[in-house]
Amino acid sequence: MTGIFITFEGPDGSGKTTQIKLLEQYFSEKGYDILITREPGGTEISEQIRSVILDRNNTKMDKITEALLYAASRAQHVAEVIKPALLEGKAIICDRFVDSSIVYQGIGRNLGIDLVKGINDMATQGIEPDITFLLKISPDKALNRKFSSDECNRLDMEKLEFHNEVYKGYLKLEKLYPKRIIGIDATMSIEEIWGEIINIVSNRLKT
Ligand code: TYD
Repeated sequence: MTGIFITFEGPDGSGKTTQIKLLEQYFSEKGYDILITREPGGTEISEQIRSVILDRNNTKMDKITEALLYAASRAQHVAEVIKPALLEGKAIICDRFVDSSIVYQGIGRNLGIDLVKGINDMATQGIEPDITFLLKISPDKALNRKFSSDECNRLDMEKLEFHNEVYKGYLKLEKLYPKRIIGIDATMSIEEIWGEIINIVSNRLKT
């Protein structure tokens, strides 16, 4: 695999989209072939699965069903888009990946990290991000931003307690994978956050 695979993680409303756009511009100025994508989604089939998962009317959805649907969406995304793009040497930037499943389903929904990892090992075919930026902001602050900006989906409607558990999960993952996961204080200004990201990415590209 010759490309570079960068993922963004963090609570809903942590500002991932803004930073992804800046990083896209950076890679494009450097002449990279870029792929910007997101999960759940990123392919036609995965987007169809996404609409089932996030539909606010699906209040009956079982947590195992939810975890399997995220993984199914990911399996299609990896097979159809991410793996081929890596083989073509592209710079891939993905809004959320397996870490989201680990913390939202494994920890937030209490399915356990091992079970969720197991389901996802099938989906990812062993592909891991080269760098994961974790935008760190407490869920109450992040959700405030989100509620004032756009529509809320089924996951956003969860209680603050759920989002706090998810956030603690992220902090745990940051400790578990210190080489891959780079935590950034997302309460800083857009420019300051970007400064940290670009520092890491440009150093990594040199190696
Ligand atoms: P989205 O509207 O894309 O949220 P955001 O802009 O914050 O990324 O909705 C995705 C939701 O799905 C979000 O609440 C996180 C959740 N999610 C999981 O629970 N598990 C997963 O594996 C992924 C990828 C996302």
